[in-house]
This record gives sequence, structure tokens and C-alpha cells, in this order.
Amino acid sequence: MKKVKIGIVGAGGQRCCYHGGCIFAGTENVEIGALCDNKAERLEHARGMYEKKFGYKINTYLDYNEMYRKGGLDAVYVSGPNYLHKAMTVSAFEAGLHVLCEKPMELTLANADEMINAANKNKKILGLAMQMHYRRRYHRIREIIESGIIGKIAQVWCYEYRGTFIEMKDWVWDSEKSGGAIHEKNCHHYDIMDMWIKSNPTTVYASGNIMKHKNPYGQKSDILDNAFIINDYENGTRGMINICFLANKEHYREFGIHGTEGKIFFSTVDDEKIHIAYNNGDKEIIEAPGDLRGGMCQDFVDCIIEGKEPLVSQKMGRKSLLVPMAAEISIKEKRVVHVNELK
Ligand SMILES: NC(=O)c1ccc[n+]([C@@H]2O[C@H](COP(=O)([O-])OP(=O)(O)OC[C@H]3O[C@@H](n4cnc5c(N)ncnc54)[C@H](O)[C@@H]3O)[C@@H](O)[C@H]2O)c1
Repeated sequence: MKKVKIGIVGAGGQRCCYHGGCIFAGTENVEIGALCDNKAERLEHARGMYEKKFGYKINTYLDYNEMYRKGGLDAVYVSGPNYLHKAMTVSAFEAGLHVLCEKPMELTLANADEMINAANKNKKILGLAMQMHYRRRYHRIREIIESGIIGKIAQVWCYEYRGTFIEMKDWVWDSEKSGGAIHEKNCHHYDIMDMWIKSNPTTVYASGNIMKHKNPYGQKSDILDNAFIINDYENGTRGMINICFLANKEHYREFGIHGTEGKIFFSTVDDEKIHIAYNNGDKEIIEAPGDLRGGMCQDFVDCIIEGKEPLVSQKMGRKSLLVPMAAEISIKEKRVVHVNELK
């Protein structure tokens, strides 16, 4: 079978060099065609890792447009900072490449729309790296909700207590470049909540604060480190997220859903096993490990080969930005924000 030749732009520590590994390791029918980063030392580090892992020479570029023109690529994985996603993505489409772009899609809806328009105009795939969307567990919960067994959904919540971001992401501490901590992180959670609630968010009220104005490396930080976010949906459901970045090594996450006939709950305490409690007193525990479609990288490659749509659509990527963007404004301006104000 033909291999998809992929270039990577943004050879950073967390995505391209996935926590010391290679993000495309284990993906079938892919060839790493080229790597790009504007910091030479990161590029060299990534090249060393990738050549060792894949066992062949990989070309490197400091300029992504040059990589798009000269790399002989089919596609590109955009894993640069959030504020560069549109620039890196749109020029890839114009160079005739498919794009898998990291989340959050961009900092504004106008920029997200430009990315979507460029994909459609050039008839290329725009995959979005909403990796939580590939977890089988969340789809199992979607199926339980769709079956009607816990009734009509009234509330969905998520609590996450985690450490802060890592040093190599120097841009993340500047809200002008990352969109802020909620924008950076919680698009994942709203993507999952959108999948379960199947309605449009309307109003958002959030309260948040910065307890630590410097990151752990002593640099200035203007991003929130704790927040409560409440929002309404058109269908009467409400969502709530409690996010706190003040933990050191400990990470805790839970999701819960209250329906008119029962409740679903799961957390990191027991490997996110799905606990269902029905209002008649019955209880059930379900496990649903693994990823759909082999995960986001495999899905992207398979979509190019087979000409199908990725599991995460352009619309879903855009929609996952709405509540985070409104929450960042709500906290800054201390008011309720209507999603239809966003641009
Ligand atoms: N899907 C997920 O769960 C997940 C997890 C972590 C990060 N992310 C996202 O992935 C993206 C990258 O995150 P990261 O943690 O790897 O960040 P990072 O800062 O470690 O990596 C980004 C890289 O882009 C490079 N870069 C910056 N400007 C460039 C330019 N003009 N040309 C070429 N390279 C340039 C930087 O030098 C850096 O090496 C972000 O959008 C982030 O939100 C997603």
C-alpha cells in the first residue's frame, strides 16, 4: 500500500517528540518526509530521535513554507504554537497538502473559519488532533445516553486537578499566544461534552484567578491557574468545569452526567471505569478501553488513503472553542458572555 509522506511543523517536546517518543510511532502506512522547527537545536533533537526510531534519513527545514514547497510531502502535522495554527495550516493547503492540526484550532473563530475555507477550497483534509475524541470510553457513554436509559440529560460536569504546563512550551504562558489556559486545555472537555449533549452552547459564566504570576521556571505568566466555568445549552442542559493547574505531580479528573433517570460517573481513581447508577437503585460498571480508528494519527493517514472524513470534523474542532473563548472573556470582564458575541 502507498505510504502517506508526512512533514511535521513544530518539533516541540510535547507533541512532535511525544513525551520523549515520536507522535507517529506505531502509525501504519506513514513515512516521515521532513521535520521543521525555527529553533535549530530542537530540530536537531527531533531529527536524531526520528531517524533512530524510523531508521532512515529525514530532511529538516527551519522554514515551513520551504518544507511545504520542497519536501515532496502529501500532508503535514501542524504542532506549532496555537497562534500560528492558521498561518501554518492555510499555507499548507495552498501548497496542496492535507493537514492534521493540533488543538485548539486557533485563537479566534475568524481564523478557524479561514482554515476551514482553505481546506474546502483546496479539497484537502483538515484533521483536528482532539485526541480525547478517539477514546472508546467517551463513545460508549454517548451510546448509553443515546439509548435513553438515564433519561434526559440535565447536567454534565468535569473536574480536573493537574500540574501546570511544561517549560519547553514557552508561548503557553502568554495568553496573546496561547489564548489562555482554558482555551489551551478545556477545548478537549467541551468537545466531549458537545458529543454527549448534542446541543449548542448559549451563555457562559466563569470565575477564575491567577494565584501564581510566574511559571515554575520563574518566567512571567498571565494565564489562569484555576477556574469554575458554567454554561447553558439550547436544549436546557447545563455544563460545568472546574479546572485547577496548581497540583504538582498529582493528576485527578472526573466526568459526571446527571439524567432524569440515572447518573454516569467516572474518574482517574479507578482507571476511568464507567459507573452507572439508575434511579431505581440498580448499578453497573462498564469498561471501554482503547481508541477508535486506531487513534488520531492513524485516522488521519487512513482518511487520506481511503478518501474518507476524519472522526473529528472541522465543525467539531470549531465548536470546541466556543465555551473556552467565552469563559476567558467572562473571567476578564466579570460578566455573562453569550456565545453569539464571539468572533
Ligand atoms: N492534542 C493534545 O492533547 C495536545 C497536547 C499537548 C499540546 N498540544 C498542542 O500541540 C501544539 C504544540 O504543543 P507543544 O507542547 O508540542 O509545544 P512546543 O512549544 O513544545 O512545540 C512547538 C514547537 O513549534 C516551534 N515553532 C514556533 N514557531 C515556529 C515557526 N514559525 N516555524 C516552525 N516552528 C515553530 C517551536 O520552536 C516549538 O519547538 C499546541 O497547539 C498545543 O496546544 C496538544
